[in-house]
Formats: sequence, structure tokens, C-alpha cells
Amino acid sequence: MLRTRRVLAATVAAGALLAFSSACASGGDSPGGKQTLTLYNAQHEDLAKAMVADFTKETGIKVNIRSGKDFELANQLVQEGTKSPADVFITENSPAMSLVASKNGFAKVDQATLDQVPAGYRPSDSTWVGFAARATVLVYNPSQLPAAQLPKSIMDLADLAWKGRYGVAAAGADFQAIVSAVLAAKGTDAGTAWLNGLQSNAKVYPGNGAILKAVNAGEIPAGVIYHYYWYKDRAEAGANSKNTELPFFGNQDPGAFVSLSGAGVTRASKHQAEAQQLVRYLTGKRGQQVLADSTALEYPVASGVPANAKLKPLSELGAPTIDPAKLNGPQVVELMQQEGLL
Ligand SMILES: [Fe+2]
Repeated sequence: MLRTRRVLAATVAAGALLAFSSACASGGDSPGGKQTLTLYNAQHEDLAKAMVADFTKETGIKVNIRSGKDFELANQLVQEGTKSPADVFITENSPAMSLVASKNGFAKVDQATLDQVPAGYRPSDSTWVGFAARATVLVYNPSQLPAAQLPKSIMDLADLAWKGRYGVAAAGADFQAIVSAVLAAKGTDAGTAWLNGLQSNAKVYPGNGAILKAVNAGEIPAGVIYHYYWYKDRAEAGANSKNTELPFFGNQDPGAFVSLSGAGVTRASKHQAEAQQLVRYLTGKRGQQVLADSTALEYPVASGVPANAKLKPLSELGAPTIDPAKLNGPQVVELMQQEGLL
């Protein structure tokens, strides 16, 4: 009995040593030889969790998720530099990706991954890729605003006629991405003049959900939001959207801007191969299908996976063509502060 125990103890110890040395050899940190990745996640947590769970199911690679907001995590990554524990970074909007890219924080995305993302949904420098998209919309309440009076362009919202009649979530990365698109499409002078008009006309709300509620309740006739807030509410009971409609600006207007959620492998990652595997998964058929099937109601952009049938197809939105690498978060924040919107 004693002898059996001793043998067993020795076997366990040897096994533990073997596991330890194999983990060290591969730089890993989870038992069984599989890596554990750290994901800095600025996307909706439910969506990130669903995609990551399926990735782990497929590959056996575990992923720790650390969630925060676009610029909070982007700035953290930049500060941490080569010491960052993050292997992969995903955002809601691309300006935070551009910020990290501008500080050389990303490794180049693998060609196999680039090949599954159409050129319009990734920056020309291949430092990251889009994996989801969200469409800019003007939600409105027809009892307060007849359809015939709807603005033709998001630029019209700077006109005096719109004073006090719509909401924006100025402090959010979502709205700031829209501002960056206006600046990229119209130039800095016209964009700054537009911000000046918004400063006197717009009512500022803490988020897109609050805007939708306010429009539905008749507090304001209209508001600038992303499409999925409305579709999600409609897919549920419609409590915050039943009095509203959702026109799309179309016509390549900056108000038809489609914002990309980005995914990139950090230069700091000690698990480059596995990190690349995660980004390949997020943009692959399986990851894109999880996204399409989720209640997030964002658009898939890669591997030919169609969006949820309830959504107006991405190809019919008339989005302007804007190189996501040109969208600049810090410049937007500076101009919004200068014009008194922040
Ligand atoms: Fe959101």
C-alpha cells in the first residue's frame, strides 16, 4: 500500500514536471499544452463571449477576455507597449484600431485572414481587419417629424432648422467614429463647421440607447444612432422603438457611414500563431456565422456570410467609400473639444 502510494506520488510529480516543462518550452500557460490568449475586448461583451466560446470549442485554445471601451483599451495597449499582456484587440469602431496601428502596436495580419476579408472592410496597411460592421442611421418619430421633412444628408443637421430637434451621444466612440467619417468625407474645414452647427443644435445624450428611448417617448423628434439598437429593440418587445422609424441616408452620404469593428494581433503577443488563429477565426465562416446568428444584429463582413435577414443588406446601404486607416480618433476628440461638443 505504502509502496503503491510512493510510486503514484512519483508518477504525479513526474507528470507535473513534464507538463511544466512542455508549457515552458512553448511559452504557454495552461495545462495540456494549449495556450491561453488574452483578448482586449471593446466590443459588446455578449458577442465577444459567444465568438470566443466557439473558437475555444474548435481549437482548444482558451481566451481570457478583458473588456473596456474602444479608446480606454487602445490607450492602455499603447502605454503597455511591448509589455502588454494582450494578444488580440477587438473594438466596436475602427478609429481605436488606427490609434494602435499608428503607434506600431500591431503585427501584420496573416495573408490567409486578409484573403477572407474584402478590401473595403480592412485598412490598406493590413495592420488589422474588420470583423463586424454597424450602419449609421437617423431614427425618428413620425408623430413629431413628417417623413417629407427628413434631412437628405447628415450635413443638414448643422442647419438652424434643426436646432434642438435631435440627439447625439457625443462622448461615445460610436458617434466619434461618425464624426471621423464626416471629416474624412468632407475635409477638416467643412467638418469643423458641421461640428460647430451640431454644438448649437444637438441635444447630447449619454448613449445610443438613451437616444432611442427619447425619440420613442417624443422627447426629441430624431437622433443619430447605429442601426442595431433599433433592430435589437424590435427583435425584443419593441418597447423603446414602437413609435419610431429608421430611414437610411444612403447615396454615399457621410450619414450612411458603415463603421467597422476591428480585430488585430498585438506586436507584444508572445503567442503570435494562436493570436493569428483567433483573428482568422473571427473573420472565418464559423466566426462570422456566430456573429450573424447572435442577438447583436451587427453585420458580418467577411467569408461571404450573409447578415440576419431582418437587416437591410449591407450592399444596399449606399455607404460612402472611406479608407478606415484615414479615420482619426484623437483628431476628432480635439475638434469636438474645440467646438464645445465634449
Ligand atoms: Fe454599441
